Amino acid sequence: MNTDPVVTHPPLQLIALDVNGEQHEVITEPRRTLVDVLRHDLRLTGTHVGCEHGICGACTVLVDERPVRACLMFAAQAEGARIRTVESLSDGDGGLNDLQRAFTEHHALQCGFCTPGFLILADGFLAERPDASKEEIREVVASNLCRCTGYQTIVEAIDACATARRGACATPCDMSAGKEH
Ligand code: FES
Ligand code: FES
Repeated sequence: MNTDPVVTHPPLQLIALDVNGEQHEVITEPRRTLVDVLRHDLRLTGTHVGCEHGICGACTVLVDERPVRACLMFAAQAEGARIRTVESLSDGDGGLNDLQRAFTEHHALQCGFCTPGFLILADGFLAERPDASKEEIREVVASNLCRCTGYQTIVEAIDACATARRGACATPCDMSAGKEH
C-alpha cells in the first residue's frame, strides 16, 4: 500500500498587472504576495523584502499612487490598479532622476537596502504634497525603517528635491511637472 502523503497543489490563477505603465500577465497561486510576483515573476528586483510583516517598508510600492507594503498585499488584489516600483524612477534615459540624485548628493544611504522603499515612498508623497514642510517629510519617512543613516540625511535629500522642484516651478504651474518619470 502506498503510504506517501498526498501532495496537493493550490489552483493557479491568471492575473493581469499594470506595472510601471506596462501590462503583464502572470500565472500564479492566489496566495502569492505582490512583492514576490514583482521580484520573482517580473524580475523587478529593485523592490526589496525585509521583515515580510509590514513593519520595515523595504517593500513599499505605489498602488494607484498610494504607498503600499507589497509584502502584505496579494498580487491578485492589485489587478486593475496602477503599480509603480522604484524602477519607474529614472530620467527617461535610464539615469537617476532628481530625487535619486538628491539621495546621492545628501548621502541619504549607506548599505542601501532600505533605499528603494524610501525613494518610492518619497516620490508618491511629493507628488501629493509638493509643498510639504521638512517636519511633514520627517513624519512620512518615519513609516519606513533604516538601520544606517539616522534619517536626517534622508529628510535632507527629500526636502532638497522638493525645494528644487518648487524653484523650477516658481510661477503657478503643475508641481508634478518637476517629476522626471
Ligand atoms: S518587507 Fe514588507 S514591510 Fe518589511
Ligand atoms: S541605508 Fe542601510 S538600512 Fe537604510
